[in-house]
Amino acid sequence: MIIIGIETSCDETGIGLIKDKTVLANIVASQEDIHSIYGGVVPELASRAHLQRIDNLFKIVIERSKIRIEDIDLIGVTNHPGLKGSLLVGVSFASGVSYRIKKPIYFINHLHAHLAVNFLNEDIEFPALGLVISGGHTSFFYIENYVSFKEIGRTLDDACGETFDKIGRFLGLPFPAGPYIEKQAEKGDERSIKFPIPMLYSNSLDFSFSGLKTAIINYVKKYGKENIPDICASFQKTVGDLISRKIKIALKQYNVKSILLGGGVVVNKYLQKRIKEVIPDNMKLYIPEKNLCLDNGVMVAAMTYFLHKLTPYRTGFGET
Ligand code: KG4
Ligand code: ZN
Repeated sequence: MIIIGIETSCDETGIGLIKDKTVLANIVASQEDIHSIYGGVVPELASRAHLQRIDNLFKIVIERSKIRIEDIDLIGVTNHPGLKGSLLVGVSFASGVSYRIKKPIYFINHLHAHLAVNFLNEDIEFPALGLVISGGHTSFFYIENYVSFKEIGRTLDDACGETFDKIGRFLGLPFPAGPYIEKQAEKGDERSIKFPIPMLYSNSLDFSFSGLKTAIINYVKKYGKENIPDICASFQKTVGDLISRKIKIALKQYNVKSILLGGGVVVNKYLQKRIKEVIPDNMKLYIPEKNLCLDNGVMVAAMTYFLHKLTPYRTGFGET
């Protein structure tokens, strides 16, 4: 079964190709160069860049995978959530491919895909707890099986990655700031500044980051940004405190056998370490490799594979 996954929900044009659970190609055209001068994603520029790049990317993926277009059995494309104009490019392109080769198309939830990329590894033990930590979302999922995801917590305001990016912009770091904050934090003392841990006395699985963002901005306004490494390390520690606390609460409320992570912030090694510290020894933790944490097409193909296998339905122009 050869599956192509198309991802254009935000600022990365990603196309991935898998044969059953094996990755044959994973190509992402990043738009960092376009949006970095604005310090954030500009939706109109994002959709235009997707449109300019998607054709070529598709050709490269087909060449690298050493297949013919006709060999594709299924097409998967992210259709929500995301920037409407950007999603439209991927969905239109995928529909065109489906029409051309007369194969079914599956419309995929971006957050489910971030977690489903872990399914390519091995047989996961369910039920599982999923945590997506990305630029646009911070959400917990109770995952009953490969195709049943229930959102059990989400951010009430800013997403975690968005907070990294906004604080980074305030500190004068490049966009997206996540990796730069992680680098700066390595040189700093995480106990030097005490920022408030959001929702410290709540047992909810929802998140909140805007208070922490304001606390850091207020700190910098008062004391200046002489010591960026200490600010970054202390911020990262507070995020680590929050996420590890929330995971502990989730594990008390839900009886799960494994934990799956996904989303760009999961690339962060410090946060990975903090998360590992609170996972019980008898529980398996799945962390995708860096290229599969960040937005990509393989994760969309992975979700498509399992949807087709377990709840096959036909839409688009396919015959099966
Ligand atoms: O999953 P993703 O590629 O896109 C969305 O679905 O949002 O995540 C992008 C986010 C950005 O906010 C970026 O700053 C953050 O992931 N990020 C990181 C790191 N690498 C990327 N955040 C913290 N530490 C990192 N090393
Ligand atoms: Zn994403």
